[in-house]
Amino acid sequence: MLQSYNIAVIPGDGTGPEVVAEGIKALEAISNKCNVNFNFKEYGLGGEQYLKDGTLLPDDTLEELRSMDAIFLGAIGHPKVQPGILETQILLRMRFELDLYINLRPVLLFPGIETPLKDKKPQDIDFIVVRENTEGVYTGGGGFLKKGTPDEIAIQESINTRKGVERCIRYAFEYCKKRNKDRHLTLCAKNNVLVYESDLWVRVFDEVSKEYPEINTGYQHVDALCMWMIKNPEQFDVIVTGNMFGDIITDIGAIIQGGLGIAAGGNINPEGTAMFEPIGGSAPKYEGKDIINPMAAISAAQMMLEHLGEKKPALILQEAIKKVLKNDLISLEAGKMGMGTKEVGDLVAKYIDLSPSTAE
Ligand code: IPM
Ligand code: MN
Repeated sequence: MLQSYNIAVIPGDGTGPEVVAEGIKALEAISNKCNVNFNFKEYGLGGEQYLKDGTLLPDDTLEELRSMDAIFLGAIGHPKVQPGILETQILLRMRFELDLYINLRPVLLFPGIETPLKDKKPQDIDFIVVRENTEGVYTGGGGFLKKGTPDEIAIQESINTRKGVERCIRYAFEYCKKRNKDRHLTLCAKNNVLVYESDLWVRVFDEVSKEYPEINTGYQHVDALCMWMIKNPEQFDVIVTGNMFGDIITDIGAIIQGGLGIAAGGNINPEGTAMFEPIGGSAPKYEGKDIINPMAAISAAQMMLEHLGEKKPALILQEAIKKVLKNDLISLEAGKMGMGTKEVGDLVAKYIDLSPSTAE
């Protein structure tokens, strides 16, 4: 039977629309090859829209997004809009309102890609970060007292609920079990200083771990983990962590897997919808030049297929991505790829067409 999916597309700002177009090109090639169909519906959210008429994320749009099978996002962020407005009112609002409580960020070095880590090979850099995505300092709690005076006080609160921590940790254990690689889950926190929030994470982690005797567990303070991600990334299989630490360590993850040109992520509500995105941002200086690398967006599309349970199509797309990275791209950096944005997408589509697999 033909599987059909409703996909919301939010191209967004800067180079977002250019990379999203290539992601859609890949999905359309998949659709021609496999028994799967996508109905794309585009939403003009982002900085341009906001500057034009003040629209950020209207409630009715949010309701529509809720009913979609998945959301494909380019980038949100505009140089003419003060930092914080678009990010909190569009991106974070989607994460909160749709309860996309897992931010899944694979760190995978593909063959043929250069990593800044000396002597590290693809088999050494292959892990995944499960980042809590709706709590911690991202909830925006806090405030100023005596703002702008010498006695000013700024408070930024970190909210960690038992329910929020537990569902994230459970997801990570399940993910680690299904991934079935090293069956090793590392908790990243800072319980030598954050004696309340990290204590909760550690207690819940230890408790849930009893239900998963087949998973080996470890604990690392976030600062040490940053160091080990550089020195011995091969020790990691799955890492679970809170929102802020997850944000920081996944930028290290992005650079060791070859940079923002390739790094993708999924914002997932396991019981609802999910949003997939390249994690590199809007890169306005490259906008409209056909030089941005679309591979992160194409990888996000690949994660989306996996999430939708389309195993074979996901595999075919992954093989195509690997081929382009190995055979065609000189570099992952914008303007240095040896070809334009659209050509990269064309090659991915070509490898999909030529794929020997005939997927159902
Ligand atoms: C990310 C980004 C966002 C975050 C910003 C844009 C709000 O850095 O997705 O990692 O901090 O989560
Ligand atoms: Mn980030």
